[in-house]
Amino acid sequence: MLVAPSVLSADFGNLQRDVEAICNDGCDLVHVDVMDGHFVPNLTIGPVVVSAIAKCATKPLDIHLMVENNTFFVELFAPLKPEYISFHIEEEKHPHRLIQKIRSYGIKPAIVLNPHTPPECIEYLLEDLDMVLLMSVNPGFGGQSFIPSVLKKAKKLNELRNKINPNCLIEVDGGVSDKNIHALKDAGVDVVVAGSYVFKHASKKKAIESLQI
Ligand code: DX5
Ligand code: ZN
Repeated sequence: MLVAPSVLSADFGNLQRDVEAICNDGCDLVHVDVMDGHFVPNLTIGPVVVSAIAKCATKPLDIHLMVENNTFFVELFAPLKPEYISFHIEEEKHPHRLIQKIRSYGIKPAIVLNPHTPPECIEYLLEDLDMVLLMSVNPGFGGQSFIPSVLKKAKKLNELRNKINPNCLIEVDGGVSDKNIHALKDAGVDVVVAGSYVFKHASKKKAIESLQI
């Protein structure tokens, strides 16, 4: 299981310290939540802060867009060369075109599904994707409780991707901890995002290791 700590739960007064800490403590990706105050009722960080994160991160960035105008934000963040950019299917009329655009920058495209969105709706996009991110909370805030129905959804998506594109990873975001990591693994999940669990733990290293099962 790959682990992507969410910087949203970091201490923003000590952002460099916290980003360096998770990288030194062995995380696999650095998850960056970009919220625009429209698609979700919260506002986070833009390219100035994300480029500061990119400078001190020694692990690849996983940028999760929670925004209304996906194309605008993809163009804004592409120069930072993240490993992944993920966008919400609920907010995109032309997902196939946007996948091609992300790939044209040499970045791996990923699609995010909100808790209510069925995995079948991306069946015909799976062959073009590097990752699908399943939200296990309603997007917008860290520290919320895990929604258990995502396990059933992950199992369904696992079957679909094994048939269509076994290279496409399954990521889960929201309320992840040592309490649900084994169930996530059993459901076929490859990558977990963890914000409050990692940053509130007495040892970030131990928290990360406890999820790398
Ligand atoms: C929620 C974000 C998550 C969040 C996860 O909209 O996408 O990445 O930071 O935080 P925890 O792990 O605390 O639920
Ligand atoms: Zn996220």
